[in-house]
Amino acid sequence: MAVQQQTGKRAHWGSKMGFILAAAGSAVGLGNIWKFPYVTGENGGGLFVIICVACVFLVGIPIMAAEILIGRRGQGSPITAYENLRGNKSLWKLLGWVGVVAGFIILSYYVVVAGWTLDYLFKAITGAFWAVETDQIPPMFDTLYASAFWNVLWMVVFMAFTIGVVIGGVQAGIERWNGVLMPGLFLMLIGLLIYATTLDGFGEAMRFVFYPDLSRFKGTSSVLAAVGQAFFSLSLGMGAMLTYGSYLKKDSDILRSAAIISVLDIIVALMAACILFPVIFTFGFEPSAGPGLVFKTLPVIFAQLPGGQLVAIVFFLLLIFAAVTSSVSLLEVVGSTVMERLGWGRRPAVLASGLVIAIFGLLSALSGSTLSGVKLLGDRSIFDSFDFLAAELMLPLGGIGIAVFAGWVLQKKETKDEFDQGSKSPQLFPFWRVLVQFVAPAAVALVFVQTILSLFSGSDVVH
Ligand code: PFF
Repeated sequence: MAVQQQTGKRAHWGSKMGFILAAAGSAVGLGNIWKFPYVTGENGGGLFVIICVACVFLVGIPIMAAEILIGRRGQGSPITAYENLRGNKSLWKLLGWVGVVAGFIILSYYVVVAGWTLDYLFKAITGAFWAVETDQIPPMFDTLYASAFWNVLWMVVFMAFTIGVVIGGVQAGIERWNGVLMPGLFLMLIGLLIYATTLDGFGEAMRFVFYPDLSRFKGTSSVLAAVGQAFFSLSLGMGAMLTYGSYLKKDSDILRSAAIISVLDIIVALMAACILFPVIFTFGFEPSAGPGLVFKTLPVIFAQLPGGQLVAIVFFLLLIFAAVTSSVSLLEVVGSTVMERLGWGRRPAVLASGLVIAIFGLLSALSGSTLSGVKLLGDRSIFDSFDFLAAELMLPLGGIGIAVFAGWVLQKKETKDEFDQGSKSPQLFPFWRVLVQFVAPAAVALVFVQTILSLFSGSDVVH
């Protein structure tokens, strides 16, 4: 009943393309351009990339389709959707809670990294990279990370912008912004990729990114990182795709949409790696430099490129756009939950959620300065601990829950009915269901147990 009652009132995407772009906007973000290259560098390249791609196909696409399906069937933000599907006494709504908490945590540090991109845009506009010798550029990032003032300021600015988009609503805010920013992002990436192919280090970089060199591979820890990366990059396991799926009309093909979104996501991640590594090898940087990689290396090319200032400005602007389209989806999960659970209007719900998350985000913003001595999980800083907790523990755990819910808790008839609506390939249903029932949860569970064991054995397997 609840499902029927809400269908009429619920906001919808204006078009199928609008949904694909918004969901791809959620998936494509700092995870692709900032995180994927540095995690690839830390994990030795080639084989890690292949495992990431395999994770996307075997685990990512099936779970994304499951999430969208649960959202469209459940017609609600995560907690409400599970309640609508299995009653409000059902423990499955805990899965919705885990998702909302994960979204809260991720957004709290995501806005800090996004803030760094604002700082770099500012540096590009003011010509900071051109005023110094090339070797002075990478240390600028360390200086920024150690500055409490700038981290907090940029975080607040970025959060304010995110709030502004989400307050606009599903069509006039989220869909409209994604429709402009995503195509722009693609064009810019293509331009930079063409430039990267002209660099001396391009060949070596391609070997690093695509050639599976076993001697550089780090074993289990790299597999864990690949699964964590796939979940984070595809925005899976916490209910972002579920929430976006709840705005999807019945004439959209769920599996096909999940496949398109995932393939777009992996293409952008690979493009980012193919842009960055040639620079890294050409200018002799360390591929395993960690989170500062994008910020330390890219400005170096910009500084040498004719017309580089304009390219730098456009690049950081687009990096900001990629970050906005993702942070918007994170805020939509928390904001729509507040709206539905507390019966608040969109404006107060989104504003309050954004403010509370920004206050919590101070912990991450100060993690390189005032709070730099604080270690939480193992010897991780606050920032790294949140990233580890959310991306490597909560998202995979949520992913297992989503797969089990869609594969085992929902009846086959129910799932098939939803899957088939709008589907151009209903014959793929049994294939998808096997992946969701067995392959995806088993693979993620295996990795998850490893992560937990490594946490207790004290060995730092991930970083
Ligand atoms: N997928 C985003 C990225 O790669 O940057 C991050 C993200 C957004 C994770 C939304 C989770 C999420 F729900």
